[in-house]
Amino acid sequence: MKLVKHIANLGYGSRKDVQRMFREGRITDAAGEVLYADDPLDHDNVRVDGEPLDLPPGLLLMLHKPIGYTCSMKDPGRIVFDLLPPRFRERNPTLSTVGRLDRDTSGVLLFTDDGQLLHRIIAPKSKLPKVYLATLADDLRGNEAALFASGTLMLDNEKTPLLPAELEPLDARRARLVLHEGRYHQVRRMFAAIGHHVQALHRERIGGLTLGDLPEGQWRALDTDDRDQLFAGESA
Ligand code: URA
Repeated sequence: MKLVKHIANLGYGSRKDVQRMFREGRITDAAGEVLYADDPLDHDNVRVDGEPLDLPPGLLLMLHKPIGYTCSMKDPGRIVFDLLPPRFRERNPTLSTVGRLDRDTSGVLLFTDDGQLLHRIIAPKSKLPKVYLATLADDLRGNEAALFASGTLMLDNEKTPLLPAELEPLDARRARLVLHEGRYHQVRRMFAAIGHHVQALHRERIGGLTLGDLPEGQWRALDTDDRDQLFAGESA
């Protein structure tokens, strides 16, 4: 691929914009030598205004999602993409969220531009556990874990029962819930199905990957160790 196309695909501008940047001498190699639009692609050696290029395609990011942000691009309010560099919205291949969290859910949210990877994480047959911390409006009654583990619980308007899920009560109104599938608003609907209202919801973990010390509202790119950790949870 030509350098100009690669840089445009990373969201730095249209091909025309990037061509202009070349003409203005803003695109150089690491030693400061001016590069040209059809120079061969050597991603790590390219600088724009002296700065290294954004990460190449094949990106996997983790965001510590705060409440109040939606995962939809079309929402008129605050969206999770507002928390990433603006260029990331312009990338080709497109960067998208790996599944979704509700506006009122916080925690681990992944993004990728790699369709196969996305599928591996969220496909119905993916074995990656998703771990949530739920705070309820009322006290736990004691029968919730058995209902969720039964493999027979049905959600409204669905034809197949939920897979068994593990619930661990933490105190009177808080519980950790491990899911092995991902249905629309699943946690809130599961609790609603057994007569509970979820007041707060936080995703702690996907596979073996937790937020660690990533502050709320911040993101980081995931490296190969992180990816290993993500899929280490595959058989958990
Ligand atoms: N289940 C929900 O109800 N909401 C989420 O955001 C994620 C899982």
